[in-house]
Amino acid sequence: MTIELHDVRAQYRRLKPRIDARMHAVLEHGQFIMGPEVAELEAKLAAFVGVKHCIGVSDGTKALLVAMMALGIDPGDEVITTPFTFIATGEMIALLRAKPVFVDIDPRTYNLDPAKIEAAVTTRTRAIMPVSLYGQCADMDAINAVAARHGLAVIEDGGQSFGALYHGRRSCALSTIGTTSFFPTKALGCYGDGGACFTDDDALAERMRQIRVHGQSKRYYHPIIGINARLDTLQAAVLLAKVEVLAEDLAARERIGRRYGEKLAGAVRTPYIEPHNRSVYAQYTIEVDARTDVQARLKAEGVPTAVHYPLPLHLQPAFAGLGLGEGSFPKSEAAARRVMSLPMHPDLDEATQDRIVAAVRSAVAVRTAA
Ligand SMILES: Cc1ncc(COP(=O)(O)O)c(C=O)c1O
Repeated sequence: MTIELHDVRAQYRRLKPRIDARMHAVLEHGQFIMGPEVAELEAKLAAFVGVKHCIGVSDGTKALLVAMMALGIDPGDEVITTPFTFIATGEMIALLRAKPVFVDIDPRTYNLDPAKIEAAVTTRTRAIMPVSLYGQCADMDAINAVAARHGLAVIEDGGQSFGALYHGRRSCALSTIGTTSFFPTKALGCYGDGGACFTDDDALAERMRQIRVHGQSKRYYHPIIGINARLDTLQAAVLLAKVEVLAEDLAARERIGRRYGEKLAGAVRTPYIEPHNRSVYAQYTIEVDARTDVQARLKAEGVPTAVHYPLPLHLQPAFAGLGLGEGSFPKSEAAARRVMSLPMHPDLDEATQDRIVAAVRSAVAVRTAA
Protein backbone atom coordinates (compact mmCIF):
# COMPACT_ATOMS: atom_id res chain seq x y z
CA MET A 1 0.00 0.00 0.00
CA THR A 2 1.35 3.42 -0.98
CA ILE A 3 2.00 5.74 1.93
CA GLU A 4 1.16 9.40 1.36
CA LEU A 5 2.51 12.41 3.22
CA HIS A 6 -0.99 13.88 3.61
CA ASP A 7 -3.67 11.47 2.38
CA VAL A 8 -6.55 13.79 1.43
CA ARG A 9 -8.39 11.03 -0.44
CA ALA A 10 -8.73 8.82 2.65
CA GLN A 11 -10.58 11.64 4.37
CA TYR A 12 -12.83 12.11 1.34
CA ARG A 13 -13.75 8.41 1.40
CA ARG A 14 -14.67 8.79 5.07
CA LEU A 15 -16.77 11.93 4.53
CA LYS A 16 -18.02 11.42 0.96
CA PRO A 17 -21.81 11.58 1.52
CA ARG A 18 -21.74 14.83 3.49
CA ILE A 19 -19.16 16.52 1.22
CA ASP A 20 -21.00 15.48 -1.94
CA ALA A 21 -24.32 16.74 -0.53
CA ARG A 22 -22.84 20.11 0.37
CA MET A 23 -21.17 20.52 -3.03
CA HIS A 24 -24.28 19.48 -4.92
CA ALA A 25 -26.36 22.04 -3.04
CA VAL A 26 -24.07 24.75 -4.45
CA LEU A 27 -24.28 23.32 -7.97
CA GLU A 28 -28.06 23.46 -7.65
CA HIS A 29 -28.40 27.02 -6.29
CA GLY A 30 -25.69 28.37 -8.56
CA GLN A 31 -24.40 31.20 -6.34
CA PHE A 32 -20.77 30.35 -6.91
CA ILE A 33 -19.47 33.76 -5.81
CA MET A 34 -20.26 34.77 -2.20
CA GLY A 35 -23.10 32.28 -1.95
CA PRO A 36 -24.83 31.60 1.38
CA GLU A 37 -22.29 28.93 2.37
CA VAL A 38 -19.59 31.61 2.79
CA ALA A 39 -21.49 33.47 5.53
CA GLU A 40 -22.60 30.19 7.12
CA LEU A 41 -18.98 29.03 7.28
CA GLU A 42 -17.77 32.37 8.63
CA ALA A 43 -20.29 32.21 11.50
CA LYS A 44 -19.27 28.63 12.35
CA LEU A 45 -15.54 29.35 12.23
CA ALA A 46 -15.81 32.56 14.25
CA ALA A 47 -17.66 30.58 16.95
CA PHE A 48 -15.12 27.74 16.81
CA VAL A 49 -12.15 30.11 17.09
CA GLY A 50 -13.89 32.30 19.68
CA VAL A 51 -13.77 35.67 17.93
CA LYS A 52 -16.43 38.09 16.71
CA HIS A 53 -15.48 38.07 13.04
CA CYS A 54 -14.31 35.58 10.44
CA ILE A 55 -13.70 36.83 6.90
CA GLY A 56 -13.35 34.03 4.38
CA VAL A 57 -10.74 34.74 1.72
CA SER A 58 -9.31 33.03 -1.35
CA ASP A 59 -6.18 31.57 0.30
CA GLY A 60 -3.82 31.92 3.23
CA THR A 61 -1.47 34.18 1.30
CA LYS A 62 -4.25 36.67 0.52
CA ALA A 63 -5.38 36.42 4.15
CA LEU A 64 -2.00 37.92 5.14
CA LEU A 65 -2.27 40.57 2.44
CA VAL A 66 -5.83 41.56 3.34
CA ALA A 67 -4.89 41.72 7.04
CA MET A 68 -1.93 44.01 6.39
CA MET A 69 -3.90 46.19 3.96
CA ALA A 70 -6.62 46.60 6.59
CA LEU A 71 -4.00 47.65 9.14
CA GLY A 72 -2.69 50.22 6.66
CA ILE A 73 0.83 48.80 6.32
CA ASP A 74 2.50 51.21 3.92
CA PRO A 75 5.66 51.19 1.81
CA GLY A 76 8.68 51.67 4.07
CA ASP A 77 6.93 50.31 7.15
CA GLU A 78 8.63 47.46 8.96
CA VAL A 79 6.99 44.19 9.96
CA ILE A 80 8.86 41.87 12.31
CA THR A 81 8.59 38.20 11.42
CA THR A 82 10.41 34.88 11.39
CA PRO A 83 12.74 33.78 8.59
CA PHE A 84 11.82 30.13 9.25
CA THR A 85 8.45 29.92 7.50
CA PHE A 86 6.74 29.39 4.19
CA ILE A 87 7.56 32.17 1.70
CA ALA A 88 4.06 33.73 1.86
CA THR A 89 4.72 35.32 5.25
CA GLY A 90 7.63 37.48 4.13
CA GLU A 91 6.42 37.70 0.55
CA MET A 92 3.20 39.58 1.39
CA ILE A 93 5.13 42.10 3.50
CA ALA A 94 7.46 42.72 0.56
CA LEU A 95 4.56 42.88 -1.90
CA LEU A 96 3.23 45.89 0.01
CA ARG A 97 6.71 47.43 -0.31
CA ALA A 98 7.07 47.17 3.44
CA LYS A 99 10.23 45.63 4.91
CA PRO A 100 10.30 42.22 6.56
CA VAL A 101 12.54 42.47 9.61
CA PHE A 102 13.54 38.97 10.58
CA VAL A 103 14.07 37.78 14.13
CA ASP A 104 15.48 34.32 14.86
CA ILE A 105 13.49 31.39 16.23
CA ASP A 106 13.44 29.49 19.49
CA PRO A 107 15.01 26.23 18.25
CA ARG A 108 12.83 24.13 20.56
CA THR A 109 9.55 25.16 18.93
CA TYR A 110 10.83 26.71 15.64
CA ASN A 111 8.65 29.76 16.41
CA LEU A 112 9.70 33.40 16.74
CA ASP A 113 11.81 33.91 19.88
CA PRO A 114 9.96 36.61 21.85
CA ALA A 115 13.10 37.53 23.80
CA LYS A 116 14.75 38.72 20.56
CA ILE A 117 11.90 40.88 19.23
CA GLU A 118 12.36 44.07 21.21
CA ALA A 119 15.85 44.68 19.82
CA ALA A 120 14.40 44.66 16.29
CA VAL A 121 11.76 47.34 16.94
CA THR A 122 12.44 50.72 15.29
CA THR A 123 10.41 53.88 14.74
CA ARG A 124 9.20 52.33 11.45
CA THR A 125 7.92 49.09 12.97
CA ARG A 126 4.17 48.75 12.50
CA ALA A 127 3.43 45.13 13.24
CA ILE A 128 4.74 41.79 14.44
CA MET A 129 3.80 38.74 12.40
CA PRO A 130 4.58 35.51 14.25
CA VAL A 131 3.96 32.20 12.51
CA SER A 132 2.55 29.25 14.45
CA LEU A 133 4.72 26.72 12.66
CA TYR A 134 3.95 23.03 12.18
CA GLY A 135 0.67 23.45 14.09
CA GLN A 136 1.94 24.83 17.41
CA CYS A 137 1.16 28.42 18.42
CA ALA A 138 3.96 30.91 18.84
CA ASP A 139 4.32 32.40 22.33
CA MET A 140 1.58 34.92 21.67
CA ASP A 141 1.29 36.39 25.21
CA ALA A 142 4.97 37.31 25.22
CA ILE A 143 4.72 38.68 21.66
CA ASN A 144 1.58 40.68 22.48
CA ALA A 145 3.37 42.17 25.49
CA VAL A 146 6.20 43.52 23.31
CA ALA A 147 3.64 44.81 20.81
CA ALA A 148 1.66 46.58 23.55
CA ARG A 149 4.80 48.32 24.83
CA HIS A 150 5.44 49.76 21.36
CA GLY A 151 1.88 50.24 20.08
CA LEU A 152 2.20 47.58 17.36
CA ALA A 153 -0.40 45.34 15.76
CA VAL A 154 0.10 41.57 15.88
CA ILE A 155 -0.94 39.29 13.02
CA GLU A 156 -0.70 35.60 13.83
CA ASP A 157 0.05 33.69 10.63
CA GLY A 158 -1.93 30.63 11.58
CA GLY A 159 -1.49 29.10 8.13
CA GLN A 160 -0.48 25.82 9.82
CA SER A 161 -2.20 26.07 13.19
CA PHE A 162 -5.94 26.32 12.64
CA GLY A 163 -7.53 24.44 15.56
CA ALA A 164 -4.44 24.61 17.80
CA LEU A 165 -4.82 25.68 21.43
CA TYR A 166 -2.61 28.12 23.34
CA HIS A 167 -3.38 28.34 27.07
CA GLY A 168 -6.79 26.94 26.17
CA ARG A 169 -7.50 29.59 23.54
CA ARG A 170 -7.65 28.89 19.82
CA SER A 171 -5.04 29.90 17.29
CA CYS A 172 -6.26 32.94 15.29
CA ALA A 173 -7.99 34.38 18.39
CA LEU A 174 -4.76 35.44 20.05
CA SER A 175 -3.88 38.80 18.48
CA THR A 176 -5.12 41.83 16.51
CA ILE A 177 -5.77 39.63 13.48
CA GLY A 178 -5.25 35.90 12.97
CA THR A 179 -5.04 34.40 9.49
CA THR A 180 -5.17 30.87 8.18
CA SER A 181 -5.04 28.73 5.06
CA PHE A 182 -7.41 25.99 4.00
CA PHE A 183 -4.95 24.45 1.53
CA PRO A 184 -6.12 20.84 1.01
CA THR A 185 -3.53 19.22 3.29
CA LYS A 186 -4.18 21.47 6.30
CA ALA A 187 -5.93 20.27 9.47
CA LEU A 188 -9.02 21.95 7.98
CA GLY A 189 -8.54 21.91 4.23
CA CYS A 190 -10.77 22.50 1.22
CA TYR A 191 -10.51 21.12 -2.33
CA GLY A 192 -8.58 23.98 -3.85
CA ASP A 193 -7.44 27.26 -2.32
CA GLY A 194 -9.07 28.89 0.67
CA GLY A 195 -8.25 30.96 3.72
CA ALA A 196 -9.64 33.25 6.39
CA CYS A 197 -8.93 36.25 8.61
CA PHE A 198 -10.17 36.47 12.20
CA THR A 199 -10.53 39.47 14.50
CA ASP A 200 -12.51 40.89 17.40
CA ASP A 201 -12.14 44.42 16.02
CA ASP A 202 -15.33 45.58 14.26
CA ALA A 203 -13.64 48.30 12.18
CA LEU A 204 -10.84 46.01 10.99
CA ALA A 205 -13.39 43.32 10.12
CA GLU A 206 -15.36 45.80 8.04
CA ARG A 207 -12.21 46.90 6.21
CA MET A 208 -11.15 43.32 5.53
CA ARG A 209 -14.63 42.52 4.16
CA GLN A 210 -14.34 45.47 1.80
CA ILE A 211 -10.75 44.77 0.77
CA ARG A 212 -11.53 41.18 -0.26
CA VAL A 213 -14.11 42.54 -2.75
CA HIS A 214 -12.19 45.34 -4.48
CA GLY A 215 -12.63 47.77 -1.57
CA GLN A 216 -16.36 47.73 -2.22
CA SER A 217 -18.89 49.05 0.36
CA LYS A 218 -21.95 48.39 -1.78
CA ARG A 219 -22.16 47.18 -5.35
CA TYR A 220 -19.81 49.22 -7.59
CA TYR A 221 -18.98 51.75 -4.83
CA HIS A 222 -15.34 51.58 -3.76
CA PRO A 223 -14.26 53.76 -0.84
CA ILE A 224 -10.87 52.03 -0.57
CA ILE A 225 -8.48 50.09 -2.77
CA GLY A 226 -8.88 46.36 -2.41
CA ILE A 227 -8.37 43.20 -4.43
CA ASN A 228 -10.32 40.11 -5.40
CA ALA A 229 -9.68 37.77 -2.48
CA ARG A 230 -13.08 36.07 -2.19
CA LEU A 231 -13.52 32.55 -0.85
CA ASP A 232 -15.31 30.37 -3.44
CA THR A 233 -18.75 29.14 -2.40
CA LEU A 234 -17.81 25.58 -3.40
CA GLN A 235 -14.79 25.67 -1.10
CA ALA A 236 -16.94 27.03 1.73
CA ALA A 237 -19.31 24.11 1.14
CA VAL A 238 -16.48 21.58 1.43
CA LEU A 239 -15.28 23.26 4.60
CA LEU A 240 -18.78 23.22 6.10
CA ALA A 241 -18.90 19.45 5.63
CA LYS A 242 -15.47 19.04 7.19
CA VAL A 243 -16.05 21.39 10.14
CA GLU A 244 -18.54 18.85 11.46
CA VAL A 245 -15.72 16.36 12.04
CA LEU A 246 -12.98 18.85 12.86
CA ALA A 247 -12.86 17.98 16.57
CA GLU A 248 -12.50 14.28 15.70
CA ASP A 249 -9.81 15.00 13.12
CA LEU A 250 -7.85 17.21 15.50
CA ALA A 251 -8.01 14.51 18.18
CA ALA A 252 -6.77 11.93 15.65
CA ARG A 253 -3.89 14.19 14.63
CA GLU A 254 -2.90 14.72 18.23
CA ARG A 255 -3.10 10.99 19.01
CA ILE A 256 -0.97 10.16 15.95
CA GLY A 257 1.52 12.92 16.80
CA ARG A 258 1.90 11.68 20.38
CA ARG A 259 2.27 8.08 19.20
CA TYR A 260 5.05 9.09 16.80
CA GLY A 261 6.72 10.85 19.74
CA GLU A 262 6.59 7.71 21.89
CA LYS A 263 7.73 5.33 19.15
CA LEU A 264 10.54 7.54 17.82
CA ALA A 265 11.91 8.64 21.19
CA GLY A 266 15.65 8.19 21.39
CA ALA A 267 16.10 7.67 17.65
CA VAL A 268 15.52 11.21 16.35
CA ARG A 269 14.62 14.62 17.73
CA THR A 270 10.82 14.65 17.88
CA PRO A 271 8.66 17.81 18.15
CA TYR A 272 8.72 19.63 21.47
CA ILE A 273 5.26 20.91 22.32
CA GLU A 274 5.10 23.55 25.08
CA PRO A 275 2.99 22.39 28.05
CA HIS A 276 0.50 25.23 27.41
CA ASN A 277 0.12 24.28 23.73
CA ARG A 278 -1.96 21.69 21.87
CA SER A 279 -0.54 21.20 18.38
CA VAL A 280 -2.57 20.23 15.31
CA TYR A 281 0.61 18.71 13.78
CA ALA A 282 0.13 20.35 10.40
CA GLN A 283 3.48 18.70 9.79
CA TYR A 284 5.09 16.03 11.92
CA THR A 285 8.61 17.36 11.77
CA ILE A 286 11.66 15.65 13.23
CA GLU A 287 15.37 16.49 13.08
CA VAL A 288 17.98 14.14 11.66
CA ASP A 289 21.66 14.15 10.74
CA ALA A 290 22.56 13.60 7.07
CA ARG A 291 19.01 14.33 6.00
CA THR A 292 19.49 13.64 2.30
CA ASP A 293 20.69 10.08 3.01
CA VAL A 294 17.89 9.45 5.49
CA GLN A 295 15.29 10.74 3.01
CA ALA A 296 16.69 8.50 0.26
CA ARG A 297 16.56 5.43 2.51
CA LEU A 298 12.99 6.21 3.50
CA LYS A 299 11.98 6.75 -0.10
CA ALA A 300 13.40 3.32 -0.96
CA GLU A 301 11.15 1.88 1.78
CA GLY A 302 8.12 3.67 0.30
CA VAL A 303 7.98 6.36 2.99
CA PRO A 304 7.60 9.88 1.57
CA THR A 305 9.13 12.82 3.43
CA ALA A 306 9.33 16.57 2.85
CA VAL A 307 11.45 19.44 4.13
CA HIS A 308 9.63 22.41 5.64
CA TYR A 309 11.73 24.46 4.85
CA PRO A 310 15.17 23.94 3.32
CA LEU A 311 16.12 27.63 2.94
CA PRO A 312 15.15 30.36 5.43
CA LEU A 313 13.60 33.46 3.89
CA HIS A 314 16.64 35.71 4.43
CA LEU A 315 18.69 33.34 2.23
CA GLN A 316 16.09 33.14 -0.55
CA PRO A 317 17.18 34.93 -3.74
CA ALA A 318 13.86 36.80 -3.65
CA PHE A 319 15.04 38.54 -0.47
CA ALA A 320 18.64 39.13 -1.59
CA GLY A 321 17.87 42.86 -1.56
CA LEU A 322 17.78 42.77 2.24
CA GLY A 323 21.51 41.95 2.19
CA LEU A 324 21.25 39.31 4.93
CA GLY A 325 23.84 36.58 4.48
CA GLU A 326 24.53 33.17 5.97
CA GLY A 327 24.98 33.43 9.73
CA SER A 328 22.36 36.17 10.21
CA PHE A 329 19.89 33.82 11.93
CA PRO A 330 21.84 30.75 13.08
CA LYS A 331 18.93 28.93 14.77
CA SER A 332 16.77 29.15 11.64
CA GLU A 333 19.68 28.11 9.44
CA ALA A 334 20.48 25.10 11.64
CA ALA A 335 16.83 24.01 11.66
CA ALA A 336 16.61 24.37 7.87
CA ARG A 337 19.53 21.94 7.51
CA ARG A 338 18.07 19.28 9.82
CA VAL A 339 14.25 19.22 9.70
CA MET A 340 12.28 16.55 7.89
CA SER A 341 8.51 15.93 7.94
CA LEU A 342 6.91 12.48 8.08
CA PRO A 343 3.49 11.37 6.81
CA MET A 344 0.75 12.94 8.95
CA HIS A 345 -3.01 12.96 8.43
CA PRO A 346 -6.00 11.93 10.55
CA ASP A 347 -6.51 8.66 8.64
CA LEU A 348 -2.99 7.33 9.25
CA ASP A 349 -3.59 3.90 10.81
CA GLU A 350 -1.35 2.32 13.44
CA ALA A 351 0.01 -0.42 11.15
CA THR A 352 1.13 2.18 8.57
CA GLN A 353 2.54 4.39 11.29
CA ASP A 354 4.48 1.42 12.69
CA ARG A 355 5.91 0.80 9.21
CA ILE A 356 7.02 4.44 9.00
CA VAL A 357 8.53 4.34 12.49
CA ALA A 358 10.46 1.14 11.72
CA ALA A 359 11.76 2.65 8.47
CA VAL A 360 12.88 5.85 10.24
CA ARG A 361 14.58 3.91 13.02
CA SER A 362 16.49 1.76 10.56
CA ALA A 363 17.33 4.70 8.24
CA VAL A 364 18.96 6.64 11.06
CA ALA A 365 20.62 3.50 12.53
CA VAL A 366 22.27 2.65 9.18
CA ARG A 367 23.49 6.17 9.00
CA THR A 368 24.95 6.09 12.54
CA ALA A 369 26.67 2.76 11.86
CA ALA A 370 28.21 4.05 8.61
C1 LIG B 1 2.59 29.54 7.57
C2 LIG B 1 1.89 29.73 6.27
N1 LIG B 1 1.46 30.96 5.92
C3 LIG B 1 0.82 31.18 4.75
C4 LIG B 1 0.56 30.16 3.88
C5 LIG B 1 -0.11 30.45 2.59
O1 LIG B 1 -1.32 29.78 2.44
P1 LIG B 1 -1.92 29.47 0.98
O2 LIG B 1 -1.13 28.37 0.37
O3 LIG B 1 -3.34 29.07 1.29
O4 LIG B 1 -1.85 30.73 0.21
C6 LIG B 1 0.98 28.87 4.19
C7 LIG B 1 0.72 27.77 3.25
O5 LIG B 1 1.06 26.65 3.42
C8 LIG B 1 1.67 28.64 5.41
O6 LIG B 1 2.11 27.43 5.75
